[in-house]
Amino acid sequence: MGFVKSGAQQRAAGAGGGGLREEMIDGQRLVRLVRIPKAELHLHLEGSIEPGTLREIDPSLSLAEIEEYTKYEDFAGFLRAYVWVNKRLQTPEHYALALRRLALTLAAQGVVYAEITLSAGVILWKGQDLDAIYGALWEESQRAPIAIRWIFDAVRQFGAEAARPVVEFAAGARERGVVAFGIGGDEVRGPAREFAEVFREAREAGLRLTCHAGETAGPESVREALAIGAERIGHGIAAIEDEALMTELRERAIPLEICVTSNVRTGVVASSEAHPLRRLYEAGVPVLINTDDPALFGCTLAGEYELARRLGFSEAELEELAKASLRFAFAEPDAYGASGSEQAGSSGP
Ligand code: HPA
Ligand code: ZN
Repeated sequence: MGFVKSGAQQRAAGAGGGGLREEMIDGQRLVRLVRIPKAELHLHLEGSIEPGTLREIDPSLSLAEIEEYTKYEDFAGFLRAYVWVNKRLQTPEHYALALRRLALTLAAQGVVYAEITLSAGVILWKGQDLDAIYGALWEESQRAPIAIRWIFDAVRQFGAEAARPVVEFAAGARERGVVAFGIGGDEVRGPAREFAEVFREAREAGLRLTCHAGETAGPESVREALAIGAERIGHGIAAIEDEALMTELRERAIPLEICVTSNVRTGVVASSEAHPLRRLYEAGVPVLINTDDPALFGCTLAGEYELARRLGFSEAELEELAKASLRFAFAEPDAYGASGSEQAGSSGP
C-alpha cells in the first residue's frame, strides 16, 4: 500500500476496507484468484500511480509530501487528492510512464484486458495537449503485455460545455483505441441530465457510454444516467435502495462497475461488510469487480475478488464474475483474443 491512511481510514480499512487484514491470507487461494483471466473495466490511469512512480515523474517530491497531499477523509477529500496527482502529470512521457507501470501491475493480477479511463477533461482543464498525451498513451498501450482500450472521461462539475471537446477528441480517436465516453467527479454538483446532449453526440459518433452514478448520490442519479443512455454504471450502489431500478438494471442487463474498497475508503459505505455488492448480485443485477483508483485506495484487483469472496461469493461465482468482466467489455472480443462473442450482451451473473 503506497499511501498513508488517516485514522478514520485505518479504522474503515480495519473493518474490511483494505480487505486483507482480519483474516490470514490464504496464499494459494489468492494465487487462484490472480490466475483467473479477467478484465478491469473501471480503472482510472491517474488513480493508479504509486508514490515511487510519482517521484520518478517529479523527483522534487518527497514521500512525506506525497503522503500529505494524498490523504483524505471523505469523497471530497479524495477528489482533491485525485486532482493533486493529476496536476503532477506535465508531459506525454509522464502519462506514458504511468501506463507502463499500470500495465505490468494489471498483467500480474491476471488481467488480460483493461478499459482504462483517462481524465481527458482534466487534461483540457490543465491546458495541456490532449493529442500529444493520448498519442503517447496509445503508443505505449500497444507495447503493453495486455490488451488495452480507453474510456475518455469528462468532469461532471465542469459542466456539459467542457465535456464537448472531450467527446469530439474521443470520437476522432476511435481508430486508435478509444471505445467509450463517460463522466465522473461530483455527481451532486453535475447532474447527468445536463449531459444528455453530449451523451447523444457521443453515441452518434459511435462511442459506447458509461457514467459514474449512484456513488455519492441516490438512486435517482442512476436513473438519470440510464435516461441519458449509459450502458454501464460506475459504482451504482445506490440502486440497492430502489427495487424497480434493480429490476430495470437486471432486465436491461446494465452492469454496475463495483469498486468495494473505493467505496469504503471514500466513506460512502461504512465498511466492506455493509457494502451492497452481494445483495445486488442476489437481486440479479449484473455486477463487475474493479479497483477504481488502486494506488489512492491501496487495493489490487485480486484483492477485490478476495474481498468479494468474504462477502459471500463462492469460488465458482467469482469465476463467473471474471467471465462477466470480459463479456461486458465495450470492445469487440477480438480486442482481447477471446472467442466468446456469443456471450456478448447476455445478462450478468
Ligand atoms: N468517482 C468519481 N470521480 C472519480 C472517481 C470515482 O470513482 N475516480 C476518479 N475520479
Ligand atoms: Zn471511478
